[in-house]
Amino acid sequence: MRICGVENPHDLCLKWERYKNPVNISGNMSLQNREQSKEMLHSQAHIWNHIFSFVNSMSLKCAIELQIPDIIDGHGAPMLLSELVEALPINKERTTFVYRLMRILVHSGCFMKQSLSTTTGNDEEEEREGYLLTPASRLLLKEEPFSIRPLLLFMLDPILMDPWQNMSEWFKNKDITPFHTTHGKSMWDLASREPKVNQFVNETMASDAKLIGSFITKHCADVFQGLNSVVDVGGGTGTIAKAIAKAFPSISCISFDLPHVVNGLEGSKNMSYVCGDMFEAIPKADAVFLKWILHDWNDEECIKILKRCKEAIPNKEYGGKVIIVDMVLKNEEAGEKSLETQLFFDMLMMVNATGRERSEKDWSKLFYDACFSHYKITPILGLRSIIEVYP
Ligand SMILES: C[S@@+](CC[C@H](N)C(=O)[O-])C[C@H]1O[C@@H](n2cnc3c(N)ncnc32)[C@H](O)[C@@H]1O
Repeated sequence: MRICGVENPHDLCLKWERYKNPVNISGNMSLQNREQSKEMLHSQAHIWNHIFSFVNSMSLKCAIELQIPDIIDGHGAPMLLSELVEALPINKERTTFVYRLMRILVHSGCFMKQSLSTTTGNDEEEEREGYLLTPASRLLLKEEPFSIRPLLLFMLDPILMDPWQNMSEWFKNKDITPFHTTHGKSMWDLASREPKVNQFVNETMASDAKLIGSFITKHCADVFQGLNSVVDVGGGTGTIAKAIAKAFPSISCISFDLPHVVNGLEGSKNMSYVCGDMFEAIPKADAVFLKWILHDWNDEECIKILKRCKEAIPNKEYGGKVIIVDMVLKNEEAGEKSLETQLFFDMLMMVNATGRERSEKDWSKLFYDACFSHYKITPILGLRSIIEVYP
C-alpha cells in the first residue's frame, strides 16, 4: 500500500523484518518466507549463470588450443581419459584437471561419453567411459571443411574480448565504438596495420563463406539466374566469388575488398580481385553481393554503401539487384535461443563495429532511404536470410 507515493511505513517495517529474518530461528519458515527464500536463491542462480557464461566459451577455447577435438577424432574410437591425457601436449600431472575440463564440455554438449569395455591387466573386463565428438564439436575440427574454429579463436582472442571490458567506459565517452576505446582505431584500420589481425579476420570470414558459398550455389541457384556478372563487395579473400564462379561458369565474378585484403591474390578465368573502398565506388556488375557487410555499419553508412551499389548495377528494366546475406531479427515471440543468438551478434556489432542487426522494418527503411523500390527476404540460411533488393 502506498500513501501519496511513499511506501506505507507499516509495509516497510514488514519488508525489513522479512529481509533481516527470512528464516525463523525455530525453523518454522512461514510460507511467505519460504517462497521469498526460494525466489531469492533462484535469482542468485540466474545471475550466477550470467556471470559464469564465459566459463563455457573459455573452456571450449582451451580445448581447441589443446587440439582436443582433433585428438579425439584421430583416435577413431571412444577415448579414455588416460589416453586423452597421454596424447595431449600437457604436463601429465594435470589428469584430474583434464577430467574437469571435459566434464563441463560434456555438460555443454560439445563432447559426449560412451561406455566401453576394456580388458584390465588381470584379463578382467572393465566398463569404462570414453570421450567422443558431438555434431557440434565436429564443426571445430581443423580439417572440417565448414569449421567454425577460426571464428571461435578470433572472437575469444583478447583483440576482440578487450573491447567488452570498455563497454561501460564507451557509454560515457565519445569514442565511435568500444573497439576504438581499446585499440584507438576501427577493426579494418587495425587489420590494415597488423598482419595477425588481418589473418584472423580473413580466415574467420573465409570459413563462414565456405559454408554459405556452398549452400547458396547448391540450394539457391535461382538467385543467380540471368546474371552475367556479380561483384562480392567486402568479399574478403574471395571464397564466395570463387564458389559462384565455379558453380556458374557463365558468370564473371569479382571479389572487391580493401587493398590489404586482396593485394597479391590471383583470380582465375571468370573470377578476379579488385581493391578499393566501397564508400567511394564499386565495380560495375549485374548484381552486388553483400554478405555480413551491412550489419557492420550504422544506418547512415549503410545508405552510403547501398547508394554506391545502386550506381554499380543496371536499373530495374535490365535486372540489376543487390543480394544481401545477413540476419533479419526475429520477433520477440520467436524461439528464445535463436533470438538470443541474434542478440549476441547485435551486441558484437555494437562493441566491435558501428553496426547492428536489423528487423524487417529496419531493413525496409534502409532500402527505401537508399532509393530502392522493393525487396524479397528468403529466410533460408539458419539465423540469416538472403535479401534480394531491386532498384
Ligand atoms: C565482416 S567481413 C565480411 C567478409 C565476407 N563478406 C564474408 O562474409 O565472408 C567485412 C569485410 O568488409 C571489408 N571492408 C571493410 N571496409 C571496407 C571498405 N571501405 N571497402 C571495401 N571493403 C571493406 C573488410 O576488409 C572485410 O573483408
